[in-house]
Amino acid sequence: MFGNIEIGIDLGTANLLVYSKDKGIIVNEPSVVAIDTETKKVLAIGTDAKEMIGKTPARIAAMRPMKDGVIADFDVTSELLKGLMKKANKAAGFNIRKPSVVVCVPSGATSVERKSIQDAVKSCGAKTVHLIEEPVAAAIGADLPVEEPIANLIVDIGGGTSEVAIISYGGVVSCNSIRIGGDKLDEDIVQYIRKQYNLLIGERTAEKIKIEIGYALIEHDKKVMEVRGRDLVTGLPKVVEVSSHEIQEALKESLLAILEVIRATLETSPPELSGDIVERGIVISGGGALLNGMQEWLSEEIIVPVHLAPSPLESVAIGTGRSLHVMKSLQKITT
Ligand SMILES: Nc1ncnc2c1ncn2[C@@H]1O[C@H](COP(=O)(O)OP(=O)(O)OP(=O)(O)O)[C@@H](O)[C@H]1O
Ligand SMILES: [Mg+2]
Repeated sequence: MFGNIEIGIDLGTANLLVYSKDKGIIVNEPSVVAIDTETKKVLAIGTDAKEMIGKTPARIAAMRPMKDGVIADFDVTSELLKGLMKKANKAAGFNIRKPSVVVCVPSGATSVERKSIQDAVKSCGAKTVHLIEEPVAAAIGADLPVEEPIANLIVDIGGGTSEVAIISYGGVVSCNSIRIGGDKLDEDIVQYIRKQYNLLIGERTAEKIKIEIGYALIEHDKKVMEVRGRDLVTGLPKVVEVSSHEIQEALKESLLAILEVIRATLETSPPELSGDIVERGIVISGGGALLNGMQEWLSEEIIVPVHLAPSPLESVAIGTGRSLHVMKSLQKITT
């Protein structure tokens, strides 16, 4: 009755989103699964499971089955997909059994990693599974005119990877990716606080610090935040005050590595396309694009205008869902 329903899945390191053309984003939850390690039973998925990270008793593990944008644990990823597809069915109000699915993969993924993502989606009941490169999806989702002979430069800074691509006339002209994203920034903060204060903090606390007082490498009025953790010397709970300038220092190396990838992509772009980029600027998407001062910092560094995608956390999912349609029309153009 509903014909062939098409959906797009953004199987991200940090968040899993499902998009349907009619209903828009129908699922948006953290890529986390809580498992009873003895019985292997799934106890919670998504938002409920993320609440449990770092707080579970020994026999319950709240884990993130995706790492660096690819599948680290196949069985757990399949469970996550199954659980969230159930939710998608409910949210959609129709039964999306056997949908045609497009799922995005990081452009740096190996063929084994691609196959594994495809298999996981198939295993949860998809009729067909198409793959799309994450930056292409991000560009489509950010409403860039990817089908036109114009250079679109998109930078997607996710949880596991940062991807930079120049897209023109429906194809990727050049692209670079680095396995550094929001997760690495959180890790940098954990390491910094451990070294500086002998204080152990969890990844969720680190993420909170990043979002609240984390800044790209720009000048700004100092902010401070109280941070709670466990003292590595006494083993007791301790509170310290941390400043945004310190966090900036902690993030510096990773941020510069991301900048370097953008620079490298610009430097290798064909001269005709460089002109477009200087004129039109670049678009940033992904959760990492929301870091305080990111837009300002990047535009200072690369001296071209930097625009934030309309919904940075959703661009990839939206673009993935729309891509079947876009790719079909592209094929018509090129044949
Ligand atoms: N306001 C914010 N400031 C800084 N970072 C943020 C903000 N909001 C979200 N993030 C970070 O963005 C990351 C998640 O982004 P996103 O959902 O785009 O990743 P993903 O698509 O799941 O990962 P990937 O594409 O690498 O597989 C997390 O690391 C999160 O901490
Ligand atoms: Mg992503």
